[in-house]
Amino acid sequence: MKTLEGTTVGILGGGQLGRMDILAGRRLGLRFCVYEPAPGATASRVADEAFAHGYEDTEALARFAAAVDVATLEFENVPRAAAELVAAQVPLRPNPHALSVCQHRSREKAFLAEHGFPCAPFEVVGDATALPEALARVGTPAVVKTAAFGYDGKGQVKVPDLEALDPDAIWAALGRPHGAVVERWIHHQGEVSVVCARGVDGKTACFPMAENVHVDHILHMSIVPARVPEAVREEGEALAVRLAEALDVVGLLAVELFVTDAGLLVNEMAPRPHNSGHYTLEGCAVSQFEQHMRAVVGLPLGDPSLLTPVVMVNLLGELWADGEPDFAGLLADPSVALHLYDKGAAKKGRKMGHFTVRDRELGAAVTRAEAAFLRLKG
Ligand SMILES: Nc1ncnc2c1ncn2[C@@H]1O[C@H](COP(=O)(O)OP(=O)(O)O)[C@@H](O)[C@H]1O
Ligand SMILES: [Mg+2]
Repeated sequence: MKTLEGTTVGILGGGQLGRMDILAGRRLGLRFCVYEPAPGATASRVADEAFAHGYEDTEALARFAAAVDVATLEFENVPRAAAELVAAQVPLRPNPHALSVCQHRSREKAFLAEHGFPCAPFEVVGDATALPEALARVGTPAVVKTAAFGYDGKGQVKVPDLEALDPDAIWAALGRPHGAVVERWIHHQGEVSVVCARGVDGKTACFPMAENVHVDHILHMSIVPARVPEAVREEGEALAVRLAEALDVVGLLAVELFVTDAGLLVNEMAPRPHNSGHYTLEGCAVSQFEQHMRAVVGLPLGDPSLLTPVVMVNLLGELWADGEPDFAGLLADPSVALHLYDKGAAKKGRKMGHFTVRDRELGAAVTRAEAAFLRLKG
């Protein structure tokens, strides 16, 4: 790439992750072009240029690729064909193969198994009739997940046991997918995640492990550093680095992990910034978004060290049920940092923003985050 200043980064996807990529990249003098089918998306509105066309519009994708020096994505469900079309014109970081593995649960599981990464016992199924046998092999309790397009627990059905099993009802509840994965339900001690950055030169840097609290299958809170033994943190970082290398990712790879007696199990991977990495905006010397931008344009990675214990809390659409939440009340604690994505309609479960709280003492940060969250409700 010729010069840094004025380099145009293309982003496939127009959500809050792209928006925060752009806000971080602007400081480096980068320019941005967003490709997002929905007009007026949150990232498109802070970009220099935006393409509002479908992912099947090959002509628009070619014009987008011609307008940028390098491209990345912030949305996992960008169709592989669209990613490949862009990658044929400019470097796409992450590469289309890594995207294709991470966007499809059966490919993701097959990849993990092939490369010997620890994960829950699973079976890939093509239709409802294959469910009983797959469930019997995997063992119950189990969870059935659509192979593609699931997020925030959508497209998942938990199966407690094999009694009164109704495969057709399960398939219908999944939205009649083209394929699904049956997974053993893991009685874990907790969920953690590691965001690993990998540069063009292959150098890696992991952000500190986050401990994640989910409510209704959606991330509610990340607590950092994760309250696990040092050996578990090291194990998680080593797994994230090996995964990023095996997928040849340039940019970020976020890895969700279950903590069990037998060690860590890989739940999911995402080749992009991750909700559980939002704490890095205030918590680390370099944020996940700046780190991603550095990797994408071929700069050396920054220092991912934690500056202070930090807690991140998501703001979901239901908080808006009775009008705008009490943001003045939230910010009564001066160590609270508020991020709103300006996404418009506040639907239940929709990620509208987040906040972080820092404290020299982690327990105090958690207490203050919980108190701040209650103040939002007025
Ligand atoms: N096999 C499993 N055992 C235990 N909990 C699970 C399992 N699979 C999913 N979950 C729970 O559901 C949440 C969402 O599932 P996940 O596979 O991460 O899908 P997504 O984040 O794409 O909705 C997980 O974070 C975890 O809390
Ligand atoms: Mg997940």
